[in-house]
Amino acid sequence: MHLRIKVAKLLIKIGRLIQSSTVAVMRPDDLVKFSQQHYANPNNIQGWCDDQVVNSGLSILEQSLLEKININKGRLLLLGLGGGREAIPLAKIGFEVTGVDFIQQMVERAKENAQKSGVKITGLVQEISKLDLPENAFDIIWLSAAMYSCVPTRKRRLAMLRRIIKSLNPGGYFVFGFLWNPKADISAKSVFLKKMIAWLSLGNLHYEKGDMLRFNLEFIHAFTSTEELKVEIMQGGFKLVDIQIIDKNEFAGAIARKPM
Ligand SMILES: C[S@@+](CC[C@H](N)C(=O)[O-])C[C@H]1O[C@@H](n2cnc3c(N)ncnc32)[C@H](O)[C@@H]1O
Repeated sequence: MHLRIKVAKLLIKIGRLIQSSTVAVMRPDDLVKFSQQHYANPNNIQGWCDDQVVNSGLSILEQSLLEKININKGRLLLLGLGGGREAIPLAKIGFEVTGVDFIQQMVERAKENAQKSGVKITGLVQEISKLDLPENAFDIIWLSAAMYSCVPTRKRRLAMLRRIIKSLNPGGYFVFGFLWNPKADISAKSVFLKKMIAWLSLGNLHYEKGDMLRFNLEFIHAFTSTEELKVEIMQGGFKLVDIQIIDKNEFAGAIARKPM
């Protein structure tokens, strides 16, 4: 091969490696702030609050999760409210919806959108891995889209599960989406390198296989096995009721239940 082509390909490889290492140099709090800065961008607020997105309703996966729990009333906490895409149809079905988002303008716009659609929702501005909620207050806690994966580190996800379980009623459901990628091209060498970068920079010392900055915009952890998810959810005190994985779809969903 031409030498210059070889050099160019090597530089591309090094560039990719440097880019993918960015997830290792930030600490968990930095990773959350990094995602928050992305969502706080006015273009993103407008994007998630746009009529077309908001009125697109529940996805097929979300409808299927709802059918599985087979409940259509009660107090529902929606984490990752955005412009109200899920909150509005869920309120129309009959749930008393409280939505949480770490972007104040999203919460305000979602409440306005709900009012325009003839329903009322309550809004809270909080960060989902540090929720401050009353105990035994909700029948369902629903974590939007693939957002279970957006919480950096297993330790932080477990702490979130413990807060969620406390604020669910006994027998209450935790419905959530996560990023599923069993074929993720994550070699042992690449994991080792990122762990080394994390230690050298005193960054994300809890870096895990599957962690990435998706499109360089937001932290996400891809689950590569159902066992990994199952063990985590059970350690959080839940019973895992169902995992729904649709072929070739990166976004998967699951249902867990607080024991009676
Ligand atoms: C992918 S958007 C989904 C919005 C809406 N649920 C939908 O599907 O149209 C994620 C939403 O969750 C919010 N969000 C992301 N990470 C969050 C966090 N750690 N704590 C609270 N809200 C968060 C973002 O501000 C954004 O509104």
